[in-house]
This record gives sequence, structure tokens and C-alpha cells, in this order.
Amino acid sequence: MGSFFYLTLTIFIFLLCFHCVCCLNISLPPLIPDILKFLDERLALVYPIIQVFKNTITLDPLGITSTWVGSDICQYKGFYCDHPPDNLSATALASIDFNGFQLSAPSLDGFIDQLPDLALFHANSNNFAGTVSPKIANLPFLYELDLSNNNFMGTFPSVVLNMPGLTFLDIRFNSFTGSVPPQIFMQTLEFLFINNNNFKLTLPDNLGATTAFYLTLANNKFTGPIPKSIGNASSLIEVLLLNNLLTGCIPYEIGFLKKATVFDAGNNRLTGPLPCSLGCLESVEQLNFAGNLLYGKVPEVVCGLGNLVNLSLSDNYFTQAGPICREQIKRGVLDLRKNCIHDLADQRSVKECTEFFSQPRSCLRPSSTFNIIPCGVQPTKPPPRRGSRRKLLVSYAALSRNNRL
Ligand SMILES: *[C@@H]1O[C@H](CO)[C@@H](O)[C@H](O)[C@H]1NC(C)=O
Ligand SMILES: *[C@@H]1O[C@H](CO)[C@@H](O)[C@H](O)[C@H]1NC(C)=O
Ligand SMILES: *[C@@H]1O[C@H](CO)[C@@H](O)[C@H](O)[C@H]1NC(C)=O
Ligand SMILES: *[C@@H]1O[C@H](CO)[C@@H](O)[C@H](O)[C@H]1NC(C)=O
Repeated sequence: MGSFFYLTLTIFIFLLCFHCVCCLNISLPPLIPDILKFLDERLALVYPIIQVFKNTITLDPLGITSTWVGSDICQYKGFYCDHPPDNLSATALASIDFNGFQLSAPSLDGFIDQLPDLALFHANSNNFAGTVSPKIANLPFLYELDLSNNNFMGTFPSVVLNMPGLTFLDIRFNSFTGSVPPQIFMQTLEFLFINNNNFKLTLPDNLGATTAFYLTLANNKFTGPIPKSIGNASSLIEVLLLNNLLTGCIPYEIGFLKKATVFDAGNNRLTGPLPCSLGCLESVEQLNFAGNLLYGKVPEVVCGLGNLVNLSLSDNYFTQAGPICREQIKRGVLDLRKNCIHDLADQRSVKECTEFFSQPRSCLRPSSTFNIIPCGVQPTKPPPRRGSRRKLLVSYAALSRNNRL
């Protein structure tokens, strides 16, 4: 009888101890079956952040967030894992691509700023709103930030100025207002897409300090002249300034942009002659100054550019075009409609032209700068014909809100 009692007591104590061990030693197999096991402690750390964000999502028409369950974060739709730069044997949440997911959330605060290993964040075409948290400056690896085609408001997200590692910034198609801090042009960005907002700013003199390859300022309210420092921005490949309120004459320094394939300043209020230095844009394929107040002779050296596919000068007040330019009109390369060259088709009326020239017009720079050709070319015949280009140019793609770049 007594031994049975002691046996029962022993079993009781054993069970009690087992229970304690189970509770205290977290490395024993869990008793509750849905305690999650993560591939890496870094993933365990971001799991609650993602779940909290998921609960703030108000619309998810494509059912994306239904995949955001369980411990395998690397398999969630839109989430990508990789080895972080500070520990190549770890696995971390490195990249988020929500492009086209159409998710609605009032804010991204408390989400991306809490994902310490994030290197890329792309969220084109969602309905994320609010402002951009200053805390994202604490993300040491973030180098691509794409918030394009969302509902962000307020002033330019100045936090990006504190992110020296950023190379790709895309905030086009939002409702940002106010000015753009000129320091953005001092940063080592390769892509700067800020078109289609409500930015208002006189283009700053340091614009030419930019290291960007692609620069889209189109469809805003930028004012003032194109700074002559632009000639120093030798990495520029595509530049879109169209549909702003730019004034003044075109600086001849644009002619230094040897790598530029696209330069588009259409639909502004630029005036003066077209500088002959544009004839040095040896890579240029698309050159657009249509819809401005330009006048004078179209330089033959510009029409003779060897890589031109499209030279758009319609809707200006040009008065002369030489034989090379006329050949390019025939080929469909040059558009000179709605100007003041009365032996060409589709020109402005004489009255309209007379009215325009009755106003005094001048450029602040000596008129001689318009004749300088810094590269010294002097074409005598039209360039060989080029096939039109099939590849969609990067910067023009940025002008459609749903395109992912
Ligand atoms: C916890 O479990 C580990 C291995 O699972 C074991 O080595 C360790 O001794 C246990 N610690 C305690 C306090 O029981
Ligand atoms: C690197 O990551 C692995 C896997 O998470 C981890 O076990 C290891 O302790 C980490 N090393 C350092 C130096 O943090
Ligand atoms: C271009 O850069 C050089 C050297 O930094 C500088 O001296 C020059 O003033 C700059 N040009 C313009 C037009 O800003
Ligand atoms: C040439 O460029 C102008 C201005 O960007 C554009 O409107 C026009 O459609 C282009 N023409 C061709 C044939 O691509």
C-alpha cells in the first residue's frame, strides 16, 4: 500500500518536472502544434511586423494577403529572401515587390521601416497613402525605393536625402507638392523618377551635379531656365522635362551630353534659337522641343545627327530650314509643322507669326553662344537612314502610371 503511494508520488513529481521543463526549455518540441518554426531568426523577427501590416490592409482585390500565412515568409506573394550582406549564412527578407497588387493601406509606417534587411521595395500601382516615414533612413541596405502610382501626399520625402546608398528613387504619379530639395541632385542616384506630381520649383543651379542616368521631371510645375550646369551631368542617358513651365533660352551646354539618347523639353515656354551645340549629341535618338516659343533657323548640324529617330520641333516659330532638315522631314524624322516656314506645309498663319515677332525677344546670353559647335562637326549631307527603334525607352515608359520600371 505504502509503496503504491510512493510510486504515485514519484510519477506525480516526474510529470510535474516534465511539465516545468517543457515550459522553460524552449528548444524542446512545442506542445502547441501551431507554434511557428522559422528558417532563420531574422525571419521570425519580421513575421509579426508583416502580420500587423496585413491587418491594416483595407482592400486586397487580388487576394494577395491570403498567401501571407505561416512561417515560410520567403513563399509569401511579393516577398523575396536572400542572404543579407552582413551575414552570408543567414536568410533574410531582402526584397518586396508589390507592383500591381492594388492593395490599399492608410500608411506604410511601421512596416517597411521595421524590415531591417530590406534592399528593394517596389510598390507601383497600389493605394498606399500617408507620408513616407523618416525611419526608413535607418534601413542600411535599402537601395531601390519605388512608391510610384500610389496616393502619397505632402512634401517631397526628404528622408531620402539621408539615404546615401539609394540608387533608384521612383515617386512618380503621386500627389506630392511643394519644392524638391536641390540636395537630391547631389546624391549618387542612378534613377530619379519624379514625374507626374505637383512639384513647383525653379530648377536649381546644381541640377548638373546629378549622377543620374535617367531623370524624369515631366508633368510638374517646374519653372525657370534649364540650368547651364546640365552640361556637367555627363552620365545622363534620358532626360524628360516635358510639360512644365520652363522659360528662358536653351543653354548650349546641353550639347555636352554625349551619352544622351533622349532629351525631351516639349511643351514648355522655352524661347530663343536652337543652339548649334545640339549637333554634338552624338547618341541622341529622340529630341523634342515641340510646343515652345523657339525661333530662328533650325541648325543643319542638328538635323544631321547620325542617330536621330525623331526630332520634334512642331508648334514653335522657326523661320528657316536647310536641305538636310528638309530631307529629314521627308523621311518622317523631323516634324516642323505649325512654325513660320511658309514654303513648308502645315505652317502657322502669317498673321500669327507677325504678331509673335512684333514682341521684342532676346536671350540673356550673347547670341554667339548659339553658333558654337563644341565638337566641331559640320555636316554636308543627311545621315544614313535609320530604322525606327523598337525598344521601349525607359523614361517614356515612366510616363504611363502602370508601367513597372
Ligand atoms: C534544453 O534542451 C537542450 C537540448 O534540447 C538541452 O541540451 C539542455 O540541457 C536543456 N536545458 C534544460 C535547462 O533542461
Ligand atoms: C549568421 O547567421 C546564422 C544563421 O542565422 C547564425 O546562425 C549565425 O550566428 C550568424 N552569424 C553571426 C556572426 O551573426
Ligand atoms: C562643371 O563642373 C566644373 C568642375 O566641377 C565647374 O568648374 C563648372 O563650373 C561646372 N559647370 C557648370 C556649367 O556648372
Ligand atoms: C516623336 O516625338 C514626339 C514628341 O515626343 C511624339 O509626339 C511623336 O509621337 C513621335 N513620333 C514618332 C513617329 O514616334
